Amino acid sequence: MILDEKDAEISMIQKSFGHQNANCKTWIRRLLILTLIIVLGFWNIASRICGLSRLLDGSNPIETAFLKSLETNLAGNWLEKYTAVPHLAGQGQELVNWTAQKFEEYGLKTEIEAFDIYLNYPLDNSLKLLSKQKNGTKLEFQASLKEDVLAEDPTTDGDDLVPAFHGYSASGNVTGEYVYVNYGTKDDFKLLSEVGVSVEGKIAIARYGGIFRGLKVKFAQEAGAIGVILYSDPGDDYFQEAKGDKAYPEGPARNPSSLQRGSVQFLSQSPGDPTTPGKASQGNVTREDPSSRIPKIPSLPVSFKDVKPILEKLNGYGLDCSKFGGEKWIGNLPGFNYWTGPNPDFSINLYNNQSYDIRPIYNVYGNLTGTDPEEGYIIIGNHRDAWIKGGASDPNSGSASMLEIIRAFHELSVQGWKPRRTIIFASWDGEEYALLGSTEFGEKYSKTLSAQCLAYLNVDVSVSGKNLEIQASPFLNHVLAEALTQVEYPLGGTLYDHYFEKKKKFGILGSGSDYTVFLEHLGIASVDVGFTNGRTDPVYHYHSNYDSYHWMSTMADPGFKFHNALAQYLGLVALKLTEPKVIPTKISDYATELGFYFNSLAEKVPEGWLKAPVGKGSLLDAIIKTKERLIKFDRNAVSFDEYTSTLQLEWDNRDLLPIWKRLRLAFQIKGVNYKLRFFERNFVFEEGLKDRPWFKHIVYAAGRDTGYEGFALPGLKEALDDDDLASFIEWVERIRGLARHLEHSFS
Ligand SMILES: *[C@@H]1O[C@H](CO)[C@@H](O)[C@H](O)[C@H]1NC(C)=O
Ligand SMILES: *[C@@H]1O[C@H](CO)[C@@H](O)[C@H](O)[C@H]1NC(C)=O
Ligand SMILES: *[C@@H]1O[C@H](CO)[C@@H](O)[C@H](O)[C@H]1NC(C)=O
Ligand SMILES: *[C@@H]1O[C@H](CO)[C@@H](O)[C@H](O)[C@H]1NC(C)=O
Ligand SMILES: *[C@@H]1O[C@H](CO)[C@@H](O)[C@H](O)[C@H]1NC(C)=O
Ligand SMILES: *[C@@H]1O[C@H](CO)[C@@H](O)[C@H](O)[C@H]1NC(C)=O
Repeated sequence: MILDEKDAEISMIQKSFGHQNANCKTWIRRLLILTLIIVLGFWNIASRICGLSRLLDGSNPIETAFLKSLETNLAGNWLEKYTAVPHLAGQGQELVNWTAQKFEEYGLKTEIEAFDIYLNYPLDNSLKLLSKQKNGTKLEFQASLKEDVLAEDPTTDGDDLVPAFHGYSASGNVTGEYVYVNYGTKDDFKLLSEVGVSVEGKIAIARYGGIFRGLKVKFAQEAGAIGVILYSDPGDDYFQEAKGDKAYPEGPARNPSSLQRGSVQFLSQSPGDPTTPGKASQGNVTREDPSSRIPKIPSLPVSFKDVKPILEKLNGYGLDCSKFGGEKWIGNLPGFNYWTGPNPDFSINLYNNQSYDIRPIYNVYGNLTGTDPEEGYIIIGNHRDAWIKGGASDPNSGSASMLEIIRAFHELSVQGWKPRRTIIFASWDGEEYALLGSTEFGEKYSKTLSAQCLAYLNVDVSVSGKNLEIQASPFLNHVLAEALTQVEYPLGGTLYDHYFEKKKKFGILGSGSDYTVFLEHLGIASVDVGFTNGRTDPVYHYHSNYDSYHWMSTMADPGFKFHNALAQYLGLVALKLTEPKVIPTKISDYATELGFYFNSLAEKVPEGWLKAPVGKGSLLDAIIKTKERLIKFDRNAVSFDEYTSTLQLEWDNRDLLPIWKRLRLAFQIKGVNYKLRFFERNFVFEEGLKDRPWFKHIVYAAGRDTGYEGFALPGLKEALDDDDLASFIEWVERIRGLARHLEHSFS
């Protein structure tokens, strides 16, 4: 790192942050530093015991300078730009160029990369309710499949609006009787079959919620349905017109015409181009039949206004859902009494015409090169594509926050600062269809990512409400918690206070955004952050025309304070990961979580399984031995964490050390950093999970039957769900092997 000697302020910043060697020649100075070491050492111990690390707030000059740059807030400007024109996957070239231009303007080494993806654009659709007549059928009602144009919300109007459709839905023209299937989960279809309601040959109508929408279509298809309609039930909203709340744009309730677009790809099989799992979709890549990853039956999203006349016809037909399903089956759509149907007098005609082709999508990358190339890099990513012209929450609130981080880093850079580790920013395309841009990137660069990438930080929706959510690999817990203490929550207190007021720990990553390939395919520690929509927030019109700049700027985040807080937070996390000499993690956090996950699943093992033979003993013995191994690993991890903290402390005060000790220290740090950079890779199991080999992480995966929601130790969890003892034993043995390996690696 080369410094301008004249720039005293930056020089001071750099020195205190440990980028520069200086010789101390006087004893007085040595004495001062010795005192400092003792004080810092004491502080370090004290902070661990009583969480006093917060006393150190703002003491880091780079972090302080970064936060100062964000006292200016331009998030609203960026958001307005991103939400003014359509930018469906592969479209919105103007925004690709603009993003690349901004990256360059803010000093990043920038590149645009295209992938060639098999995907659909909508051509035509219709949804008709037909009544049976003696001499044929009569059209009773035709759904508009359009959202109301609102004068005050400009991006709800124009001839460039994105139609109602599902990404990766099948074309088709089907007519049949229809049934209500609640959320369309695996359990919902199971219950319907138990009570004798058949979906075979019918059109299934499911409400959104609970699980990823593509799996609703998958389960309906498996149950023999010929088509699917998905609608947003107002009963799932906190604010409702039925409860006296006004609807958007007058108030916080759902606009009755809003409808949720979205992908119906089978996310939990594998994300990415469905014709090239595990491979980058470029040039001549060999493609395979995608039919196990996308639906064969057509589907359409509709508003509750459009589905009401259709569902009302089921009242009194089939079974009363409250009788067999209870409250869980009842929404709050006025006029519908939640009967399953079918009503033999009515049918629907669902017509869905999609154009499929291989089409280019565009990622934009920007590098902020670090001072120490051997130390690898981190990636911060956000997707750019949206289902609608707006996309103010999803995803462009995240795009605006990310651009603010880039702007603030640029302000540090012009003063001569560089991070120690390289920071790569990524603006992904095609996330909405199937995490396309990030997955293809991860598949293409898997080797160098495995070798060099320390962490992936994701921000998809940075603001849809006021409720901070953090889901992460425990490898990052330490920095994530520390940064929380340094950012103010826009409504008072710190983010730390806000987050831990309601939650005990960080969440588990499942799927549904771009971290998936990094964590679950490549074993790279990842985090996803954003302010989500909670009970006190106006209804978030997810994937609807009303997720607009107007909604965001008047209702969700006037003044863009939450966008700003997110930029502060994620930027600090990036600095904390890239600046320190020793990689700042506490692997004991991971060890503790592993023990917790294993013990909670072990408790669920059926009595009858425990005596099953495993090796020379029983399953019970194997479980006990695995627990012991995990406890020993935890103990070793605590000592290892103490060792790495000591190394960092010695490094911060290395001026005190004779040259040969300094060299030895540098060598020791290289060793631990190497180990830490690859720590998360320990969990990669090359053969992958049962029946879905793309998912290779032993500890975290997208829920097989939920898509979004993640589950820890999926091998064990699924074996329990499937009542599969042999598979359970196999996974216990695998985890025992892993625990033994970890215990030894960190002894
Ligand atoms: C984007 O940039 C490319 C390359 O400079 C150019 O060919 C293209 O016309 C630009 N597109 C738009 C919409 O600005
Ligand atoms: C960014 O950094 C990565 C990792 O070092 C490198 O592979 C890539 O080529 C760089 N991109 C640019 C545009 O410099
Ligand atoms: C069916 O009968 C009704 C009157 O009973 C008539 O209005 C209608 O046109 C007929 N439809 C067809 C398809 O013949
Ligand atoms: C859909 O199929 C019906 C017959 O089942 C036919 O009358 C109608 O024209 C078809 N619609 C389209 C758009 O092809
Ligand atoms: C595609 O395949 C052809 C013939 O096999 C080969 O010449 C060409 O280099 C390939 N292109 C790419 C981009 O791999
Ligand atoms: C879908 O639309 C295309 C283009 O308008 C048309 O050629 C095709 O026949 C349509 N498919 C169906 C099933 O109606």
